[in-house]
Amino acid sequence: MTLSTIFVIDDEEVIREGIAVALERDYSIKPFGTAESALENMEHDSPDLVLLDIGLPGMDGIQALQEIKKRWSDIPVIMITAYEDVQTVISAMKLGAHDYVVKPIHMDALEVSIRNALETVKLKKEVQALQEKYLKENLPCFIGESNAIQDVMEFIDQVAKSPDTPILIIGETGTGKELIASAIHYRSPNFSGPLVTVNCAAIPKDLVESELFGYEKGAFSGASPSGKIGLVEEAAGGTLFLDEVGDLSQEAQAKLLRFLEDGQFYRVGGTRQRKVQTRVVSATNKDLEDMVKEGHFRKDLYFRLGVIRVEVPSLNERKDDIMPLAQAFLLEFNKKFGKKITGLSRDAENGLLGHTWTGHVRELRNLIERGVLIGSGPVLTVDDLGIAKKKGTKPGQPKEEGMPFPPFPREGMDLDKAKEALERYYIEQAFKLAGGNESKAARLLNMNHHTYRYRRRKLLGS
Ligand SMILES: Nc1ncnc2c1ncn2[C@@H]1O[C@H](COP(=O)(O)OP(=O)(O)OP(=O)(O)O)[C@@H](O)[C@H]1O
Ligand SMILES: [Mg+2]
Repeated sequence: MTLSTIFVIDDEEVIREGIAVALERDYSIKPFGTAESALENMEHDSPDLVLLDIGLPGMDGIQALQEIKKRWSDIPVIMITAYEDVQTVISAMKLGAHDYVVKPIHMDALEVSIRNALETVKLKKEVQALQEKYLKENLPCFIGESNAIQDVMEFIDQVAKSPDTPILIIGETGTGKELIASAIHYRSPNFSGPLVTVNCAAIPKDLVESELFGYEKGAFSGASPSGKIGLVEEAAGGTLFLDEVGDLSQEAQAKLLRFLEDGQFYRVGGTRQRKVQTRVVSATNKDLEDMVKEGHFRKDLYFRLGVIRVEVPSLNERKDDIMPLAQAFLLEFNKKFGKKITGLSRDAENGLLGHTWTGHVRELRNLIERGVLIGSGPVLTVDDLGIAKKKGTKPGQPKEEGMPFPPFPREGMDLDKAKEALERYYIEQAFKLAGGNESKAARLLNMNHHTYRYRRRKLLGS
């Protein structure tokens, strides 16, 4: 077994020698009289640990510590100091020193401190390796080569590190918010804890509180007799992902706000205050700022959720991602459907690059899925993808892309009502096509069963 290397930096020869004699059986000791000579050596021969005197001629111990932490932040540093240097010790600890020993040095105490420091570094490395392994195995493959998405990923890497800060992900439908939420989880120190997803739109209004916070036995009629823990408790030590957070009712917003303030909550019907540590990540494709202005979303909750805001750019703003995503989906669906389609025709590529995306990555994924399923050629064509070839438009009429929607009325329209009518129509059509089976209808609409039921009740009342 190779011995751990320790650099001893002290201008007093007796100290250097004393340490060397005491520790050389267990460690490889390299003594230096000045910080400058030790730093020069560290360039090509970095130690496992540094023992650093504070009072040195030339560069002093504090300056040397700053330099070491700047360039080799993983190497633990133990400061050596005289009693009167206590203030300096405090600043050294703030600058990242692992520990300190006071002169005259008690070798037993020094050995304990060295062992602790080396053990801490070893554990850190193990956790890091485990995290990397976890990342590789669990992280859904997030594809993105454009500068815009690279910036987002870099930002996520930074903000994921603090495990308590709430993060709000904003972006249009299908831009990858859910995938980003899971990236945040797996890049955070809580990565080995649970990632619990709550679809706020799918939970009926009167069940939100008990779903989120759980209930005590006998809390209400129909409740399980043994009580139930809520999603917030399930997410303890991990991440609570509140998807479609803009759909929370006013009442649920108030309950959530209380929890976000101090991590405390009551189960429904409970009297014991409980506390949970979990990071809350939320996402929405709605304009929360507008909702706040209109009084539909609490301003205080908006600020609590969005301590950090991540804005996912639309696919139209990151054209460089279109082809890498298309290629990845092509591989995925070739595998799924046992096909061997090798790529996309030039026209199909141009079609994808020129398309105006409204459903963004989800729309692209669906197009490729459909194309692979029905395509027969060696490559996917424009027809396989079903991208409308650009038609000439009549003068004076706005250019319409994609689906044949009714023309835009000159007098204007109520977009929300139009969306509702469209949703109602497709929900009903899917129901008919599925022979009255709600689960099947939900699958046809790429929705989960609860969301489908909830939307159907809301829009059709049955
Ligand atoms: N960068 C990406 N790499 C690979 N797949 C992606 C990427 N972004 C999105 N997807 C895929 O696109 C689909 C939609 O993504 P996701 O569900 O995360 O979107 P969203 O922003 O949450 O949409 P919504 O607002 O409708 O909930 C998913 O199948 C997801 O796996
Ligand atoms: Mg989503």
